[in-house]
Amino acid sequence: MNAASSSPSSSSSSSLGTVTATAAAPFGTRLLGRTGLSVGPLGLGSSYGLPGSEVERAFERGVRFFLWGSRRRAGFGEGLRAIAKRRREDMVIAIQSYTRMASLMPWSVDRALKALGTDYVDVLGLAWWNGPVPQRLIDAALRLRDKGKIRHLMISGHHRPTFDRFIADPAVDLLMLRYNAAHPGAEREIFPRLGAPRQGTIAFTATRWGTLMDPRYLPAGEPPPRATDCYRFALSNPNVDVCLSGPKDARELDAALDAVSEGPMDEAELAWMRRVGAAVRASTVKKSQISALEIIDKLASFSFCGPKQLTSG
Ligand SMILES: NC(=O)c1ccc[n+]([C@@H]2O[C@H](COP(=O)([O-])OP(=O)(O)OC[C@H]3O[C@@H](n4cnc5c(N)ncnc54)[C@H](OP(=O)(O)O)[C@@H]3O)[C@@H](O)[C@H]2O)c1
Repeated sequence: MNAASSSPSSSSSSSLGTVTATAAAPFGTRLLGRTGLSVGPLGLGSSYGLPGSEVERAFERGVRFFLWGSRRRAGFGEGLRAIAKRRREDMVIAIQSYTRMASLMPWSVDRALKALGTDYVDVLGLAWWNGPVPQRLIDAALRLRDKGKIRHLMISGHHRPTFDRFIADPAVDLLMLRYNAAHPGAEREIFPRLGAPRQGTIAFTATRWGTLMDPRYLPAGEPPPRATDCYRFALSNPNVDVCLSGPKDARELDAALDAVSEGPMDEAELAWMRRVGAAVRASTVKKSQISALEIIDKLASFSFCGPKQLTSG
């Protein structure tokens, strides 16, 4: 279920101008793929310093997916604790573990449970896998699931061809992937290959680390996208269940929430975002880099998956 909720036609005003479109109903509540969890379209990440009161306001506005991620800001945690006290079953808390040692995983999960004052998290993400995830780590996560400390297993990565392996693993219910106007490659390499019933999908880097809104990279004659437009672009793809956002304050949160109320982009807006995305990407292309974690993974598994394939979009 990923359809926008049906409400009367409304107008949306991207930077491209104000368009009155029948398709501009808000993005609706949806199921998070085969997990059966019900979520709003927007997710919130803990990394950018959103105060707890704003995290609570986001919940009141329909945000249900919260990533207690790699940078765990105290205020964000306070917000999650406050919501969990009242409405734990109505929120989806996701945590991430970057560990490559199965023995550390229970400690890492217990630490998050303690910090958030909850008995379980809905989602444990095994993070930054650009090659196969060793079975010992999947098994460690499943043991935590058996104990009731986590409910669903997610994997995140940047190397799209490796997603075939994650998709083939029945233990993995959720995928977290890069998808934005400058990196639309998931449209070709991941979305058509999702399972049935399909995995839940979380898109990250909608603003491409802010570069999609940076006037320095904007092609001549194109209006600049707002953050709102970046989130709308990702959410306009029906294969995206949740688009993560990283607002740091009330103003940026409002911009993210606007994406929900403005709803899907029309063809002209999508084409504009793709033109901007291609130009931004061309102006900022970096030589492929290999991270410390990837070196560790390769040494540990002796698996030679290809380099990160980001050049083709
Ligand atoms: N597991 C993984 O592999 C992975 C990968 C990527 C991201 N994540 C997580 O996903 C979460 C969300 O990160 P994201 O990169 O996807 O979020 P995002 O919302 O696409 O990007 C956040 C960036 O956008 C800017 N921004 C946000 N709202 C804005 C607004 N209204 N106006 C102008 N600039 C705005 C922020 O800039 P300012 O700070 O300057 O305001 C920030 O640099 C984070 O918790 C992150 O840790 C995980």
